[in-house]
Amino acid sequence: MARPGKPVGAITRGTTGHNRLRRCDRWIAAVHGRSLRAAERPLVVDLGYGASHATSLELFTRLRRVVPGVEVVGIEIDPARVAVAKPYEREGLTFRLGGFELPVPRPPTLVRAFNVLRQYEEAEAWHYWDVLRGRLAPGGVLVEGTSSESGRRAVWVGLSPEGPQTITFSARFSAFEQPSDLADRLPKTLIHRNVPGERIHAFLRDFDHAWAVSAAHGAHGARQRWLAALRALSRSWPVPARPPLGGPARWRLGEVTLPWSAIDPREKPE
Ligand SMILES: C[S@@+](CC[C@H](N)C(=O)[O-])C[C@H]1O[C@@H](n2cnc3c(N)ncnc32)[C@H](O)[C@@H]1O
Repeated sequence: MARPGKPVGAITRGTTGHNRLRRCDRWIAAVHGRSLRAAERPLVVDLGYGASHATSLELFTRLRRVVPGVEVVGIEIDPARVAVAKPYEREGLTFRLGGFELPVPRPPTLVRAFNVLRQYEEAEAWHYWDVLRGRLAPGGVLVEGTSSESGRRAVWVGLSPEGPQTITFSARFSAFEQPSDLADRLPKTLIHRNVPGERIHAFLRDFDHAWAVSAAHGAHGARQRWLAALRALSRSWPVPARPPLGGPARWRLGEVTLPWSAIDPREKPE
């Protein structure tokens, strides 16, 4: 249990960079913009923003376009990183010291934690999923994920207060040879499960197969091949085909979202 006043968690590497989380920001705005707009005083937490304020500021700027009244609070467990970010505060964007206890004045509508839990043990990652979703406002969402340093490959999970709901794979078309290349960005709760007999492994195997049989569409570009692969994959996996989670408008961005239940490692395949 946390001692009062001591942030819960551990200081880890602070690697970050401009635009690293753009793919996830875009998804948050498209998929959760409506619920953020519906909230009375929407509060978004960027947990573990790292060595610079950049990704918190980008999240704030992008969300303000679709949710004018949104407030963003960047939370860091490293006091030095809070001091570095403080000068960049502005109306609606603040930075403060804290950890998984989330020291904010009211339950957040959305918490983003990117490239944070991968530096913890798998059992801790499951535990902090529960802790963080327990802090959400009713109808809120935790977006927990991992990306490459450039942000060209990313995987994230969307959790409601009730538990994990979605998993999203997102990549620049030039950043992979086959879809399973994204496996190195799986969240901590899944990275060790990418082995035969596990659903996530079966999904990535089938995605690679769908990609291979769609090779001819590559003559019209990788985007067309991705769209064809997703149509093929949809025959055996429950890929949402309608907005906000799915459909061509999202897929053409190099993205696909699945219901978490399709790959939940706590449920074994038949
Ligand atoms: C790799 S950086 C990620 C920065 C940024 N989110 C990104 O994706 O570019 C991880 C940061 O999370 C912070 N961190 C780790 N555990 C934390 C916790 N429990 N609460 C707040 N920050 C935490 C670390 O101190 C580190 O600065």
